[in-house]
Amino acid sequence: MKSDGSALEPLWFKDAVIYETHVKAFFDSDNDGIGDFNGLTKKLDYLENLGITCLWLLPFFPSPLRDDGYDIADYRNVHPSYGTLDDFKIFLDAAHRRNLQVLIELVVNHTSDQHPWFQAARKAPPGSPEREFYVWSDTDKKYRDARIIFTDTEKSNWSWDPEAKAYYWHRFFSHQPDLNFDNPAVLDEAIKTMRFWLDAGVDGLRLDAVPYLVEREDTNCENLPETHEIVKRMRRELDANYTNRLLLAEANQWPADVRHYFGDEDEFHMAFHFPLMPRIFMALRLEDRLPVIDIMARTPEIPANCQWGLFLRNHDELTLEMVTDDERDYMYFAYGGEPRMRLNLGIRRRLAPLLDNNPRRIELMNSLLLSFPGTPIIYYGDEIGMGDNIYLGDRNGVRTPMQWTTDRNAGFSRANPARLYSPVIMDPVYGYESVNVEAQESDSSSMLHWMRNMIALRKLYRVFGRGSLEFLSPRNRKILAYLRRDETDQVLCVANLSRFSQPVELDLSALAGMVPVEMLGYSEFPRIGTEPYRLSLSPYAFFWFELQPAAAGSVEETAKPGL
Ligand code: NOJ
Repeated sequence: MKSDGSALEPLWFKDAVIYETHVKAFFDSDNDGIGDFNGLTKKLDYLENLGITCLWLLPFFPSPLRDDGYDIADYRNVHPSYGTLDDFKIFLDAAHRRNLQVLIELVVNHTSDQHPWFQAARKAPPGSPEREFYVWSDTDKKYRDARIIFTDTEKSNWSWDPEAKAYYWHRFFSHQPDLNFDNPAVLDEAIKTMRFWLDAGVDGLRLDAVPYLVEREDTNCENLPETHEIVKRMRRELDANYTNRLLLAEANQWPADVRHYFGDEDEFHMAFHFPLMPRIFMALRLEDRLPVIDIMARTPEIPANCQWGLFLRNHDELTLEMVTDDERDYMYFAYGGEPRMRLNLGIRRRLAPLLDNNPRRIELMNSLLLSFPGTPIIYYGDEIGMGDNIYLGDRNGVRTPMQWTTDRNAGFSRANPARLYSPVIMDPVYGYESVNVEAQESDSSSMLHWMRNMIALRKLYRVFGRGSLEFLSPRNRKILAYLRRDETDQVLCVANLSRFSQPVELDLSALAGMVPVEMLGYSEFPRIGTEPYRLSLSPYAFFWFELQPAAAGSVEETAKPGL
């Protein structure tokens, strides 16, 4: 891949498998206890072997790190703990040489209060160009219909600044003042930042907190038409100057609202599907496919050149903003038993502990992630089943060092353990002595090997990233079955959400004559006829079948399905 994106094709992101990580958490090359770009570069072999095609890096810019780097103090540089701009460029070249794309963060809804713009704004007179970079008010009563997002820490979206003698607006922490997008100079700066990193060669940008760019009285200050105008302007700039780059929206909203962020193919290429994720967890716990079917029925079609981003877990709490109150209560009951597991409107746990470390459940959930319509995003460490530490503050419990070996500090760093940016996971079940890359590399039955196989399989079939979705409606609701189709392939996915074995009868009569070939073992199953197609699935089992036209003599004419 060339750094100008020219070796890619425009829709590369539809076939991507994305891996999300933080530079600080991956590998520490200089043994100061904090991961760095040189460390990440050293670990590219691992990522290449895993089969991922794109790396999404969490914020690595200069920052006081009070929101893990989402509080930016300088947009166009690298935090000294992680290396230099040159180290970043060396990493980017090395990633591109391996055909790995790199996605980074564009966090322009807000800055850190340590950003020079804010420091200047608070000292500048009201109405001055410096002051106008942020949103000020004499009262804290404006925009009262805007909800508070960090409910555990913030009581208001306004904070008083004694120096400015005014309130400033912030949708997140009070140390993260929102930029004022009604000021054209702010958008110009945002675009400069975007261009700075695109010129450096990154393949895409995840636009953080997009729905909140603009505020208006008597609205909830989310998804406003003015916000869409800003996004369109950024997209125009991108299209006019770059090829094959990606804009990804972080809009934690209902699908009907997120739909607008694809615009007429003139806003984002990709957006996360936030509401799907808790419903997959709900379906598993309820042993009922309904929550998944329901949210997909409420998911509008998106333009042909756009794509959903799918994930099971990420660096934040498992967010429960896009569920009903009852559903949230259920999720807390099912997955967040201990109060320490809860944060804001969500559950701060990793994938493996959420699934009680049950390998079959973990495999089932990943099989859905990898076969649903969209681009899958894997959170670092989840490929080996890393655990979390709910005794660390905020969301830090899911941001601990990557577990490489059984050596000191999980092989992440040779620093004095007291110096690490975060303690490594040490409990008997998920601790690095039990869960680490080295051990799983040498165990062909490990989760790491399983993930590698599944990623490789998914990449063989473009239908997963590009095909249509059609649910089947077997009477047994513990079975989730769906067809993925494009011009060349048809894949049938069947998943057992139950902890017990389940029978299912699928109406596949429209596909009569085809032969399902189980894709992991390439085993032919009985040919589909006009009668119900019977399958039995063991607890949490799933099948991916490629549907092939029957070759003469390949399967006995008389074979009975499901026997
Ligand atoms: C969304 C990010 O995912 C989250 O980690 C951060 O705290 C907020 N944006 C505020 O920047």
